[in-house]
Amino acid sequence: MNIKVQTNYEEMSKVTAEFIINYVNHKPDSLLCLAGGHTPLRTFDYLIEAAINRQVDFSECKFVGLDEWVGLGKSVKGSCQETLYTSLFDRISISEEQICFFNGLAEDTAVECKRVDHFIFENGKIDVILLGIGMNGHLGFNEPNVSPDLYSHVVGLDPVTKDVSSKYFEEEVNVKQGISLGIQHIVESDTVILIANGAKKADIVKQTVEGEKTVEVPSSLVQDLPNVHFFIDEEAASLLEKSDKE
Ligand code: F6R
Repeated sequence: MNIKVQTNYEEMSKVTAEFIINYVNHKPDSLLCLAGGHTPLRTFDYLIEAAINRQVDFSECKFVGLDEWVGLGKSVKGSCQETLYTSLFDRISISEEQICFFNGLAEDTAVECKRVDHFIFENGKIDVILLGIGMNGHLGFNEPNVSPDLYSHVVGLDPVTKDVSSKYFEEEVNVKQGISLGIQHIVESDTVILIANGAKKADIVKQTVEGEKTVEVPSSLVQDLPNVHFFIDEEAASLLEKSDKE
């Protein structure tokens, strides 16, 4: 794991976007998997700015969704799919053919998992996977005590995830399950980017980097992988013993 600490959220977002832009410029037909949630939103702004200024071209890229709340579709503001479309895809005219996203309303979630896995395998593998970290260390909806050998799967949501979920929605939603790429997808990705900012993430960042490698903290499962880049701001890094400040 390569850890880089930036002064603040803005710098963390800029560095993350630059990394992705650089990657895509070297491999224009990359398969990208970008998390929803709040942490990547500013990164997306920088990606959009670069695309508009022709510093990067996403027209040959493919995009696969990381996860979705079961029972919520794209029409629900705050769903993962809605977040990605509104904050990125629609703003740089990514076409439907380039995107494969979990449908949280799918009647048969097992078939939905197979559909998404198939999309990834048919494109080789994920080139860059951009992940936020949940307050409980989840990656996507790989919740505490996840089986690390899973590909796409449906999961009962951890109480912490249910608690935090209200920040995404304007209306009250009662989410119980998620549908998510698995740890196996993450491990097999060419490059993994983790991002975290703010003092509230400091404890889970410490557990991720310096804690025991355990399924109880899913983000710790990637701590030994050489192809993991962890971009964090100073607040999120504040409890780390050692880190590389830029
Ligand atoms: C969202 C997702 C989640 C979030 C994580 C952090 O698609 O997969 O794992 O990345 O919960 O959320 P934020 O960024 O809102 O703190």
